[in-house]
Amino acid sequence: MKFEIKDRDAAGRICKFTTEHGTVTTPNLMPVINPNKMLISPKEMKKFFGTQIVITNSYIIKKNEKLREKALEVGVHKLIDFDGPIMTDSGTFQSYVYGDVKLDPLEIVEFQRDIGSDVGTILDIFGTPQQTKTKAARGVKETVKRAQQSIRVKGDMVLACTVQGSVYPDLRNKCAKELSKIDADFFPIGGVVPLMENQRYSDLVSCILASKKGLNPSKPVHLFGAGHPLIFPLAVALGCDFFDSSAYAKYANDGRMIFPWGTKKLDNLDELPCCCPICTKFTASELRNLKENEKSLQLAKHNLYVSFAELKKIRSAIAEGNLWELVETRASSNPYLLESMKKLKKTENKTWLEQSESTSKDRALFYTGNHTIHRPIIYRCHRRLIDRYEPLFDTTIVFPDGNKPYSKYYSEQIKKIIRKSNNVKILINSRLGPVPIELDEMYPFAQSVFPETTDKETEEEVSRIFDEFTRNRDVIFWEGDKTLQKLSESQEKSQNDIDIRRISAVANIQFGKDASKSLFDGKIKIIKSKKTGKIRNIYCDENHILSMRAGDGMFTLKIAGAKLLHRYFKYPRLRVTIEGDAVPFVKQGKSVFAKFVLDCDPELRPFDECLVVDEKDVLIAAGRCLLNRSEMLSFKYGMAVRTREHID
Ligand code: GUN
Ligand code: ZN
Repeated sequence: MKFEIKDRDAAGRICKFTTEHGTVTTPNLMPVINPNKMLISPKEMKKFFGTQIVITNSYIIKKNEKLREKALEVGVHKLIDFDGPIMTDSGTFQSYVYGDVKLDPLEIVEFQRDIGSDVGTILDIFGTPQQTKTKAARGVKETVKRAQQSIRVKGDMVLACTVQGSVYPDLRNKCAKELSKIDADFFPIGGVVPLMENQRYSDLVSCILASKKGLNPSKPVHLFGAGHPLIFPLAVALGCDFFDSSAYAKYANDGRMIFPWGTKKLDNLDELPCCCPICTKFTASELRNLKENEKSLQLAKHNLYVSFAELKKIRSAIAEGNLWELVETRASSNPYLLESMKKLKKTENKTWLEQSESTSKDRALFYTGNHTIHRPIIYRCHRRLIDRYEPLFDTTIVFPDGNKPYSKYYSEQIKKIIRKSNNVKILINSRLGPVPIELDEMYPFAQSVFPETTDKETEEEVSRIFDEFTRNRDVIFWEGDKTLQKLSESQEKSQNDIDIRRISAVANIQFGKDASKSLFDGKIKIIKSKKTGKIRNIYCDENHILSMRAGDGMFTLKIAGAKLLHRYFKYPRLRVTIEGDAVPFVKQGKSVFAKFVLDCDPELRPFDECLVVDEKDVLIAAGRCLLNRSEMLSFKYGMAVRTREHID
């Protein structure tokens, strides 16, 4: 099995998952195939919906003599006539639904192996939401024990070891940690069907978060039995890679149509709010008048079209960097889902989510409502302002939000202030939070779009951050000439150049407190774009140390700059440490693969600039991280750092 990150947004990712039957792009959906009754064959699914992987049930196959014999003889791929990757489930769910089913935990794993399943599942103990913690803990213990035993008989099959633990986050987390110690390659989150059925999305979010926090981040995660697209965006944003759907068929047999925002009975629809080929071909009444079997078939197709379309939307949102916007928009279509978003405001969850969030995106951040202010990227940007920004001066003049870039919008006022005194800090009280004027081109301050008026919750959060940021400072709200008169003439005029302030502030926010001291300790030359007037390149003592990107106003680190940071900051700050074997490759300019990473600064985030060093902390290259620390240390495939410049 191979699992490799290709792109990312929120804690979601686009990955390539490869077994010997092919490669699947995640996040993706596995339609459930009932080997006894195929409404739509897997082959047709591949043709019409682009289905890349399916899931079927080994317990159902094993129980039926004909299916069992055939599966053992020709394999599960021929049995259901599908040549792509196939996952099998174990019968856990059947024992949950029907009570006691006779199954041996090892036998069912061996059977899945013997019929050639790509991903086989252990016989985990289904933890129900209503069970006591003691009972749930017993289930977790048994599940882990079975996983440990199953791993020995799995052969070449990928073994899916399900995280259980009912609705108890600590049990979920413990189970996830125990399972991650085993050499398992696939982690479903189980026991969530009753939560889905009762729309207990808050509990679902807690279960996902607690599980994900304990799981090895380099392995695929599957949300077992959650086939409704309503929760796909949020589940992906929290790090789920796979879903399975029996809902498409179950709902169809019941005359129900799935939509991204919920489910509707066909009988209650005058018009079909969908443009899939089925809803284009039929009107609602034509669909209603079809024979039962035909109606189920057409509804099942619609349900699959809608489910796969939502996954396309999610993958493109990841690629575009606006997954949180999709999550927030979808959440507003269901009150229970909306309620579950509250979990994301908890500091412990923000700090976990923040670790996966890239430091910059190619597109602007859009406000969609009162959840936007709690996005991990904004949380980080507030934290970095408070921890890393160097205020320099006590006096702070505060302007209200205005057009961007702020330094242009307020240029006249700023000129007047500087003429009077250069020893003041200028701050914008923006709708996203406090923005020092020097940072007005940096992501996401410049690259964010908020409406004229936000909402009470956002205002309160922003005001809290503003107070924290300006605590113990002399704050003056701009009132024109009145403010100018209040300013005392400063002794040393214009000694502190605005360009120097800008590059210092960006360097400190981006690389850490005091980074500016290490980078700009010499003769500084700043080259600006002739066209835009923006800072492009920075030289220190004739060495090109940094370039400023026009898109996000952040620095690209040149090797000369890396040397300065390396000298100033002690290990492990900004470092990615690689194995000796990989050093010659990086010295040729090749990228750093995750499997060669020995250590990494825990503060580094995806897309942060970093220093690549060897085991003796000798600088090898400057690069850009694609993963965070825990990912670098656990992924066996794919790139960890894209090398920008190396030492010769
Ligand atoms: N299908 C739906 N939920 C589950 C679960 O918790 N475990 C297994 N093995 N299959 C499931
Ligand atoms: Zn449709």
